[in-house]
Amino acid sequence: MQFRLLTKPPKKHAVHILSAPSQIAEIEGLDDRERAYLAETLVGDTTQASINQFSRTLFFYLLKPKAEEWKTAETLRKAGADIAAKANGQKLDDLAIHNGTDIPRAAILVAEGAGLASYQFLKYRTEAAKQTNSLTSIAFTKGSATVKEIERLQATVDAVYKARDLVNEPVNYLTAEQLSREIIALGKESGFKVRVMNKAAIEKEGMRGLLAVNLGSQDPPTFTIAEYKPEKAMNKKPVVLVGKGIVFDTGGLSLKPTPASMDRMKSDMSGAAVVSGVMYAAARMNLPLHIIALIPATDNRPGENAYVPGDVIKMYSGATVEVLNTDAEGRMVLADALHWAKKYKPELVMDFATLTGAASVAVGEHGVVCMGTADADTKMALHQSGFRQYERLVEYPLWDEYGDQIKSDVADIKNVGGPSGGAITAGKFLQHFVDYPWMHFDIAGVSFATSKKSYTPLGGTGFGIRMVLDFLQNYGLKA
Ligand code: BES
Ligand code: MN
Ligand code: ZN
Repeated sequence: MQFRLLTKPPKKHAVHILSAPSQIAEIEGLDDRERAYLAETLVGDTTQASINQFSRTLFFYLLKPKAEEWKTAETLRKAGADIAAKANGQKLDDLAIHNGTDIPRAAILVAEGAGLASYQFLKYRTEAAKQTNSLTSIAFTKGSATVKEIERLQATVDAVYKARDLVNEPVNYLTAEQLSREIIALGKESGFKVRVMNKAAIEKEGMRGLLAVNLGSQDPPTFTIAEYKPEKAMNKKPVVLVGKGIVFDTGGLSLKPTPASMDRMKSDMSGAAVVSGVMYAAARMNLPLHIIALIPATDNRPGENAYVPGDVIKMYSGATVEVLNTDAEGRMVLADALHWAKKYKPELVMDFATLTGAASVAVGEHGVVCMGTADADTKMALHQSGFRQYERLVEYPLWDEYGDQIKSDVADIKNVGGPSGGAITAGKFLQHFVDYPWMHFDIAGVSFATSKKSYTPLGGTGFGIRMVLDFLQNYGLKA
């Protein structure tokens, strides 16, 4: 989707966002019958209407603001998604959005919803050309958006598309090595540096958590380090993002059942997709922040030499882990990445991982379970970004008692914490490997959708990218 600013009034298809039906009188290019039709239609609960003229379609959206600003924002995104669906239904290629309300970002939000809703993954469709959406361009009328807002929207929507593509790619294309190549390509396109450590380098470094998970695989692991460092960064020490890059999770020898479980595990690199998308957009937006992303990647398979329950792994940090379930592999690879992050003396580390079914059971597809040791201001800022972007966060506690659940009989810790508090015991495991301000985001419930809903398509969602970008855009600015 291409976004742009118009300098002249739109001649073709347009969307008018209105705050009152009386505004219909001011809109040019309508005859009396059309105005009467709109006045009759936009009443009661009806907020949308459209008029088909000879060579163009006009959409009208009557905004009914909610008590909370963040709920109004979401209403606007959803309206955008609806209008995009209608525009595609009518085979329209271009829409101009006009903001007739006094809510400054209304047009941007409608466009965001329309843009996010227009995503398609057609790479493996023989009839892709026939199935491609007609709507490819969204313009803003003069005064409806600023150039900077449009650039940021473009970078954000593009980043979400890239992340969704990565999640939707199956492992027979997207191996760990291919994931690293994709990140290199994103870096080239947007302007961040990428270094990929191959298996030999990972062995030399001693990242034995990542190597243990990789033992059952035919394909080598990778550890990808992406760095975006603008000349005038506001932060002296970097913000580090860590993304779980399990390109497929069979569960390993603790094998997953297929229906509604292993069948969606190509999405187990969604954390990697989120941080790659964030890096891409941050670089495109020229954010004044030094950001590093770390992506440990492998598939988790029950191959002949696979790690087994009972194995004790001496991790990269030196801590020993008793593996009691090979399906708790995410924390094994993240632990090594979190240990690596210490070398940067980071200001803040945020990890994103489809880590536990427990997080998904707890809050479903409507929010992200988070926990961590970052200060209260940082947590509050994240929380607010979550609401603004409608990618909401629920904070869970890291109480000591949950740490007791991962005490091992033979090693420092074990990789499972028993039947209760599963999202938290996974977090406690990760906490073992951090010594800096840190936040963990368990995105297991939100990363992969089994049905289309408004601007969230079926498949990879990219959920979390907009929240993080919102947080980074406001980073260091006092509220
Ligand atoms: N990748 C899964 C978690 C997951 C579940 C992601 C559902 C998306 C949807 C993770 O590696 C896993 O298998 N976790 C186990 C941990 C358990 C063995 C302690 C789980 O949640 O069952
Ligand atoms: Mn697993
Ligand atoms: Zn997993």
